[in-house]
Amino acid sequence: MTQYATLTIDGKELQLPVIEGSEGEKAIDIRSLRQETGFITFDPGFGSTGSCQSAITFMDGEKGILRYRGIPIEQLAEQSTFVETAYLLIAGKLPTREELTRTSVLLNDFSLLHEDMKYFYQNYPSKAHPMGILSAMVNAMRSFYPELIDLDEDLNNTFLRLISKVRTMAAMAYKISRGHKTVYPRPDYSYCANFLHMMFDNPVIPYEMDNDMVRALNVFWILHADHEQNCSTAAVRVVASGKVNVYAAISAGISALWGPLHGGANQAVIQMLEQIQKEGLTIPQVLAKAKDKNDPFRLMGFGHRVYKTYDPRAKIMKKMCDLVLGKQRCRDELLKIAMELEDAALSDRYFQEKNLYPNVDFYSGIVLRAMGIPTNMFTVMFAIGRLPGWLAQWKEDSLDPLRRISRPRQIYTGETLNDYVPMRDRF
Ligand code: SDX
Repeated sequence: MTQYATLTIDGKELQLPVIEGSEGEKAIDIRSLRQETGFITFDPGFGSTGSCQSAITFMDGEKGILRYRGIPIEQLAEQSTFVETAYLLIAGKLPTREELTRTSVLLNDFSLLHEDMKYFYQNYPSKAHPMGILSAMVNAMRSFYPELIDLDEDLNNTFLRLISKVRTMAAMAYKISRGHKTVYPRPDYSYCANFLHMMFDNPVIPYEMDNDMVRALNVFWILHADHEQNCSTAAVRVVASGKVNVYAAISAGISALWGPLHGGANQAVIQMLEQIQKEGLTIPQVLAKAKDKNDPFRLMGFGHRVYKTYDPRAKIMKKMCDLVLGKQRCRDELLKIAMELEDAALSDRYFQEKNLYPNVDFYSGIVLRAMGIPTNMFTVMFAIGRLPGWLAQWKEDSLDPLRRISRPRQIYTGETLNDYVPMRDRF
């Protein structure tokens, strides 16, 4: 039985239908609002606005729940691999052994770049940020692989090419920025092992593959694989709504992820911890800066638009710190500062009242540092992890019968009607 919300405007009553999701979330369907009343809604940042119905990822921000296709993130982090999780997100089901084997073989087959794509790197300054390179390279893939996409396939070749090649592109950007020889993928390595191989192997000091590091990288990318309608996923959907090719939409997602309030936060957290260490700031001084409205400083890696409790991914990421640091038999001073910061913030009234908790980015930088990933590659690591989620959302959006081009309205607050003033009359 459809529930209705009653809206009374200028003495006129409007019945707006209520939509309910499979987990009991409710929304007021306002699609007829402007036509019926001439009014629009106003919601900068879309904090109370749903852009779509989706069956991919469920989050409960109050309870700290995250599930991909109904499976809790904790179980996937514990038992799955990144490739299997990518299949789950995009195909909507866990793969059979044969499907997973075929997917892994194709990911290996597609792991090389077209040789002409290497020339892109030569024209970038060596200090170019790899997120800018990645966004451009993904957009350029349209010119090299213009084939149409068969969305009936669980994982079509275009999606597999993108998932496979972003690793090669990222590792190549890193090697070239350091003036090192690029390393080709190996057919006998898994998806994550091949990335570490391409990043760190070199002719003089062969990279010694460590299964715990490979496991940590699988978990890192599983935790980042999707997160419903976050900023970059929303960007992918908005760009896709104009019916542009998938490469351009994903390139837009990479650009949206780059910002320090979103995927760039993992890099910003480490830079914040290094600043605290370098300047010898005390924890109370740091919290005071974070609370000072006149200070642009924010506690990076804290707070979230949806989670009003501990980000379930941050809990898992924090445990991974011990695994990877233990392997490296090193203590990371920044981890000590991060944990002291977390303890102090969680018992501080300001953070409690505003429901500010560690998010996925607070500890992820510590894990990446322990793997040997340079700080300016942290957001690239996030992008590689998020790619299956973006593709799953792009596919769902492309097949959505309710899909229309995204075109928000506005409330105009500028000059009212006035006439052009000829130059001779201006002063
Ligand atoms: C990601 O959306 C997703 O799902 C994103 C993500 C994903 O997987 O895709 O989870 C990944 O982007 C995680 C978030 C990474 N960003 C950071 O860690 C940057 C630091 N955090 C903030 O900038 C902020 O918390 C956001 C951007 C994450 C959320 O911003 P909102 O929802 O717009 O909240 P807000 O800025 O309106 O803050 C509400 C209040 C404000 O105070 P008042 O104006 O009410 O007095 O809380 C304060 C803010 O000043 N606040 C903070 C704070 N975060 C919010 N104060 C100090 N430090 C912070 N980190």
